[in-house]
Amino acid sequence: MTKLFLPDTEATQQLGITLGQDLTAGTVILLEGDLGAGKTTLVQGIGKGLGITDSIVSPTFTLINEYTEGRIPLYHLDLYRLEPQEVTGLNLESYWEGMEVIPGIVAIEWAERMPYLPDSYFKVCLTYGESGTRQAEITAFNCEMINDVLLQPRGNY
Ligand SMILES: Nc1ncnc2c1ncn2[C@@H]1O[C@H](COP(=O)(O)OP(=O)(O)OP(=O)(O)O)[C@@H](O)[C@H]1O
Ligand SMILES: [Mg+2]
Repeated sequence: MTKLFLPDTEATQQLGITLGQDLTAGTVILLEGDLGAGKTTLVQGIGKGLGITDSIVSPTFTLINEYTEGRIPLYHLDLYRLEPQEVTGLNLESYWEGMEVIPGIVAIEWAERMPYLPDSYFKVCLTYGESGTRQAEITAFNCEMINDVLLQPRGNY
C-alpha cells in the first residue's frame, strides 16, 4: 500500500494526471472515500493526463460518462445512488473485459457498492486530513504497474 499526502486540489489533480499519462488500457481504478473527499477531482486529473479537453463532470445521475477523445478511452462511473443488487444489472464487466467496448481506463466512484470485482484493479481510498487536506491510500490487486507509476518522482505530492 502506498500513502500519499495531498495538500490541495492541485495535488489531487496532479496525481490523476500522472495516472492518466501512464496507465494502460484495461486498468480499473476503484475510488473510495466520503462525500467530497476528492474522487471526481482525481478523475478530472486522469482526463487531463489522457489529453481529454471535454470537462469531466460527476456522473452521479447518468451513472456513466464515456470520453473517447484522449490517448485511450475513459469510462467514469459513479455508483452513489445504487444498491449493490442494482449494480449487478449494469454488466460492468463489459468495461474491463474490453469485448463490447474499446479497452480504456475505468474509474469507479463509490466502488464500495460493487457486489463483484475485476481480477485486477487498484483501489484509491481518499480521506480527510488536517486543515482540509487529503490523504490517498493506494493498494494494488494483481496490478503491479501502478507501483512503477507511483515510484516516479513528482512535483507536489
Ligand atoms: N487534496 C485536496 N485538498 C483540499 N481540497 C481538495 C483536495 N482534493 C479535492 N479537493 C476539493 O474537494 C472538493 C470535493 O471534491 P470532489 O467533488 O472531487 O469529491 P468527491 O469525492 O467526488 O465527492 P462525491 O462523493 O460527492 O462524489 C472539491 O471542492 C475539491 O476542490
Ligand atoms: Mg464525485
